[in-house]
Amino acid sequence: MKLVTIIGARPQIIKAAALSRAIKNHYFNEIQEIIVHTGQHYDENMSQVFFDELQIPRPDYNLHVGSASHGIQTARMTEGIEDILIKEQPDFIVLYGDTNSTLSGAVAAAKIHVPIVHIEAGLRSFNKAMPEEINRIVCDHCSTLLFTPTNAGLVNLKREGFPMDNDAPYTIDNPKVWHCGDIMYDNSLHFADIAEAKTDIIERLNLKNKPFVLATIHRDSNTDHPERLGAIFSAFIQMAADRPIVLPLHPRTAKLLKTNLPPEIQERFAATSNIIITPPVSFLEMIALERNAMLVATDSGGVQKEAYFFKKPCIIMRPETEWVEIVETGNAVLADADENRIMQAWQRFRANQPHDFPEIFGDGHAAEFMLEKIISSKVL
Ligand code: UD1
Ligand code: UDP
Repeated sequence: MKLVTIIGARPQIIKAAALSRAIKNHYFNEIQEIIVHTGQHYDENMSQVFFDELQIPRPDYNLHVGSASHGIQTARMTEGIEDILIKEQPDFIVLYGDTNSTLSGAVAAAKIHVPIVHIEAGLRSFNKAMPEEINRIVCDHCSTLLFTPTNAGLVNLKREGFPMDNDAPYTIDNPKVWHCGDIMYDNSLHFADIAEAKTDIIERLNLKNKPFVLATIHRDSNTDHPERLGAIFSAFIQMAADRPIVLPLHPRTAKLLKTNLPPEIQERFAATSNIIITPPVSFLEMIALERNAMLVATDSGGVQKEAYFFKKPCIIMRPETEWVEIVETGNAVLADADENRIMQAWQRFRANQPHDFPEIFGDGHAAEFMLEKIISSKVL
């Protein structure tokens, strides 16, 4: 069986590590995986570092599309992916999540009848102003095999009319949905102890035995709006009066901070010594930070989940989340870019660290489950 896997943005590279590892360990003789990097993320610390650290095979192709508007970026990727699919003639294309790389893979493959496997299917924010919401809906509705990481994902697909009892052979018009758990959970479990042994970031940042907050911000809905960015940073400045905050900065945020952070907040921010800004860190470093933090504050999808995996409370700087279960269990709070709500959540979690984190992301073996289903779904 031949799979073409599309990756492009940081979280997809990380997710792909779990599938490639499971192929190597269990299906080495049965599956040939061709990896296509669209080049959506390209800085060393947004891409190459993960290949080196997580032992992901080198991409067979790199489209080098780089950054551009949505239309230009997706058009370039679609063109490049189509060429590769025609040349490689895979049994399936594997797409992760909801980025522009996902959308391009879906459009390219569906039009030339290459069946799509969508990993992280069914998630919805119910906010179509997010580019990711458009990407996920299109990808799900072009897919043949859909793997949902959470029960909410399954429920969303049912609501959108996906039948749950289709029989093989599966096609784009007769798709199959499986609920299998979260592939990111596979990675977090696999790398947790390795991260502690192989990184020294906690010592390097002088955080040993110090309760600290880990924060990330990169959503366009936050970075591109001075009012929202200002409210989030104003809250960070207040929190930093109490505890150090580590903030590995996504390149998008690093660029826009200079222009979009209101001058008054800019000044207060410059006068705050307790916010440690770093370039994007490696995945092992990120896991070490998540494991040792007292609380996570983020607008990232992946980071809010990883907070949960490591049993840390999370303040989500978004109005809604696709990962509704972590809010429903009381372990995360949707604070949006609202300074008061962020501070209320901070006070609450500072006083009471939650302890009950039910297993909602599967058993850490989602990749093996998916590969078994993909193999048995091949149309002979
Ligand atoms: C993308 C995804 C988002 C995902 C995020 C993960 C889309 C629409 N968005 O957002 O869903 O959560 O990746 O991190 O696909 N840049 C660099 N170096 C890089 C990459 C980006 O400097 O290696 C800068 C460029 O200025 C670029 C900006 O970051 O314009 C945004 O990059 P882009 O890939 O378009 O979107 P993200 O915000 O990273
Ligand atoms: N991550 C990382 N280094 C960082 C920030 C995040 O390795 O400096 C990892 C994080 O642990 C998670 C993934 O990147 O696995 C999340 O990616 P991101 O926040 O960029 O995107 P999202 O998940 O929101 O799409």
